[in-house]
Amino acid sequence: MSGTRKLHIKSYGCQMNVYDSQRMTDTMAREGFVAAAEAEDADLIVLNTCHIREKAAEKVYSELGRVRRLKDAAARDGRKVVVAVAGCVAQAEGEEIIRRAPIVDIVLGPQNYHRLPALVARAERGGKVVDTEFPVEDKFDHLPAASREATRARGVSAFVTVQEGCDKFCTFCVVPYTRGAEISRPAAKIVAEVEQLAAAGVREVTLIGQNVNAYHGAGPDGTWSLARLLHRVAEVPGLARLRYATSHPRDMDADLIAAHRDLASLMPQLHLPVQSGSDRILAVMNRRHTRADYLYVIARLREARPDMAFTSDFIVGSPGETEADFAATLAIVGEVGYAGAFSFKYSPRPGTPAAERDDQVDDAVKVERLARLQAAIDRNQAAFNARCVGRTLDVLFEKPGRLPGQLVGRSPYLQPVQAMAPAALIGAVRAVTITRAGANSLFGELATPAPHAAAREPTALAEIVET
Ligand code: 5AD
Ligand code: SF4
Repeated sequence: MSGTRKLHIKSYGCQMNVYDSQRMTDTMAREGFVAAAEAEDADLIVLNTCHIREKAAEKVYSELGRVRRLKDAAARDGRKVVVAVAGCVAQAEGEEIIRRAPIVDIVLGPQNYHRLPALVARAERGGKVVDTEFPVEDKFDHLPAASREATRARGVSAFVTVQEGCDKFCTFCVVPYTRGAEISRPAAKIVAEVEQLAAAGVREVTLIGQNVNAYHGAGPDGTWSLARLLHRVAEVPGLARLRYATSHPRDMDADLIAAHRDLASLMPQLHLPVQSGSDRILAVMNRRHTRADYLYVIARLREARPDMAFTSDFIVGSPGETEADFAATLAIVGEVGYAGAFSFKYSPRPGTPAAERDDQVDDAVKVERLARLQAAIDRNQAAFNARCVGRTLDVLFEKPGRLPGQLVGRSPYLQPVQAMAPAALIGAVRAVTITRAGANSLFGELATPAPHAAAREPTALAEIVET
């Protein structure tokens, strides 16, 4: 090995990819690679791609054009750069990627990241490899955990993948094909990972999965549900906050709803995509729930935890969507009163049932509906933020804010909150009185004395925040 080599990973798409990129970084750290913020002087460049919406593959090919120039410049200096394409575009396109972009050395599907060191070694010897099989072994058994230093550097809030893949087969979605069938990690491994994170100073953990509330992993005494797992993870010393994402309405079972009542560290915020407010479209989407089912789940959660805040994903312009269907979507936004939401124009994904339909909606109609929906969501979000003004909210401080002397943290509802606070409070939960609401964030002042913060602070905090 010739000294330290540099690795640059560009991550697209969802939180699962962010987490996978970190685990790839940790794996390559063992091989002597250090993470580089810029691609310019990297010896290994990984594009961790997303295939869920429009033109994802095209974006990857245009990025590969830029990478080719870097690779050519390095070659002129006698330096070899290895280029890998990972993630869902890699899974979907396979060797087509190397055909279209011959500078790519490695094409690697999401289930095979533990093989990256071996594939890089092969590529360094001049070989090209496509590895998109679904292996029987569990990649997590082979991906090492981050060092304490790497964990600290990533901040006080961390993601932990508990589940991957999806068996729901919504007709618009490519995930069941790119990420494969649903698998859950064993509970003991998740708990061990959370313990390691907490010991390194992480205060908030978000359990993630494509369909996280379908979690059914092996526990010490039979299969554990997500509710059971949350109860166990909540016991990990040092953790102040727990979240999970992304959930399917059908899998919000009674125990999970009750967990929102019973677990103080489980934050009162839930991302629960509904996609459409029209029963007809929900049926075409194969969502297997109605508008009423969804509203019932929301009502039960609000009973369990009255201050629960909801966010959602919406798709406009699904095949066959009429103005009346779209009106039902606008109506559900008003009915739920979301704290925020993502909205997308329907984009046909090759190989999915919805893409085959002949009742596709005109792009101009999609554009116009998207604008109306986003305006409705923005009104919801502004109203939600405005209602926070004057309240005192617990804030987990994460990093320096926009102005000198300011820190930014998150409210229980996941809103960014800016407040004047000493840097020593990074990693601490403090009560903040909200004085003003902006479009996307809140502004406030430390409330002194902090009413709840003292009780929730672990004694080890000084040690955690000192670096
Ligand atoms: N077109 C548009 N949006 C999509 N999503 C998933 N597939 C598509 C598609 N084909 C959206 C859904 C999902 C989010 C992650 O991406 O709203 O919840
Ligand atoms: Fe895709 Fe539906 Fe599975 Fe979500 S639940 S990942 S939208 S198939």
